Amino acid sequence: MSSQTTISPYDLANLNILVVDDQEDVRKGLKRLISSLGCDVAMCCSAEDALQLLGARSFDIVFTDLKMGGMSGDELLKQINQRWTDIDVVLITGHGTIDLAVACLRNGASHFITKPFDNKEILAFIERAGYGILARRQAKDRAANHRGRSIIAADAKMRAVMELVDQVAQHKVPVLIEGASGTGKELIAREIHNRSPVHSKPFQAINCIALPDTLLESELFGYKKGAFTGAHKDSTGLFERVDGGTVFLDEVSSMSSLFQGKLLRVLQEKTIRPLGGNGERTVDFRIIAASNRNLEELVKNGEFREDLYYRLQVMKISLPTLKERKACIPALAGHFLKQSASEFFYDDHPCPELSPAAMESLLEHNWQGNVRELENTIKRALVIFKGDRILPSHLGLADDSSLAESLFTQPLTSYEEGKQKAIATFQRQYVEAVLQRTSGNISRAAEMCGLTRAALQRIMRKLELERA
Ligand SMILES: Nc1ncnc2c1ncn2[C@@H]1O[C@H](COP(=O)(O)OP(=O)(O)OP(=O)(O)O)[C@@H](O)[C@H]1O
Ligand SMILES: [Mg+2]
Repeated sequence: MSSQTTISPYDLANLNILVVDDQEDVRKGLKRLISSLGCDVAMCCSAEDALQLLGARSFDIVFTDLKMGGMSGDELLKQINQRWTDIDVVLITGHGTIDLAVACLRNGASHFITKPFDNKEILAFIERAGYGILARRQAKDRAANHRGRSIIAADAKMRAVMELVDQVAQHKVPVLIEGASGTGKELIAREIHNRSPVHSKPFQAINCIALPDTLLESELFGYKKGAFTGAHKDSTGLFERVDGGTVFLDEVSSMSSLFQGKLLRVLQEKTIRPLGGNGERTVDFRIIAASNRNLEELVKNGEFREDLYYRLQVMKISLPTLKERKACIPALAGHFLKQSASEFFYDDHPCPELSPAAMESLLEHNWQGNVRELENTIKRALVIFKGDRILPSHLGLADDSSLAESLFTQPLTSYEEGKQKAIATFQRQYVEAVLQRTSGNISRAAEMCGLTRAALQRIMRKLELERA
């Protein structure tokens, strides 16, 4: 859950290093030394060549001589600072140029080394800088991964939500996300964090419904050794651990009113007191809260503290149910299909398509469990389908849209369209039932229901039903 960095000494071999010097023995000596860490070392004999190579591939550290024929090392440093801000530049200097090297430190160089070289000093520098470089790289990869998690927003309501996400991400204000179960509250909370300037800091989620007051308190505020039975050593709370990142409090409405008061105090004062401790500690975090109940209503009924509500909902994002964003269903279904196929199938298995009738069933279904239910439906269909297409029967949707119910809950269609839909539903249920009784034997099924074999097959083709 948290964004911990895990770098071992072996990872230093992933560093790409460039040595620029017009003296061959210096280049070769440095290459031999640095290669002993396993790093990839490239060499150039002029700053001009170096600039070309830097344009062609990426480097983490550049060692450059200060005095070279042609462009000097300090000019190369300037160019690198302007174009490749992530690169650490180390200057190689003789005794005559130490003053210039010191000046370069002020202009963005990371370090300078004097000739003759102290090998240990050079290796120690690469190790030190290398950990920082690799940590930055990991953080970037993580952020890119998170950003890669697509959020489908194919209708106006969801597009408005995503615009709001973009805006709130840039400001450290509390955000309240409201939405029914499975509408994507946690996904949106993570997206706000990932788009924020602190995306490389931890994002920590905690579900308030799962924890009683005392556990919630020790988890969020931390505790001192001996604070309660089982507290064998000091423990840092989540508010402190996120260290400038984001705390996601899920299901805030389930907090006791006593705990609501404690949380309010933390939000106001930005300090915590660990259980069993007496000192206050300053904490720095952004809070995102989520609830699948309407907090405003709960405030009106006296079930949620009004002052805490106003603290949490500085920015409020309300997620529509899946029914309210039907236009997103095809894109979501396609997204889950691709995502789950790449997860479940071995490499050469093609991703099946959804048949038009299956897509229609998805559009018609009454999604009580919202996006999560749709995701699970697609996953299940991927496991049980046969052939190259997903058919309505593979979706296993309980037919909750009984005619009477749908007449009251769905927009009214024309009489003829409604009748055709009702007939199709009847035909599907009827044919599936009869085929089940005959274990897929079409001739016997046709006989049982008083149809010709050809007529039954015509209905099956129309409904994309399979014998199985
Ligand atoms: N717009 C979307 N695009 C893509 N995937 C989505 C979208 N919304 C939700 N999902 C996916 O649906 C699933 C449920 O989302 P999430 O867990 O964020 O919902 P939730 O509102 O927190 O649910 P609950 O109230 O049950 O905790 C997740 O797998 C999530 O990735
Ligand atoms: Mg959730």
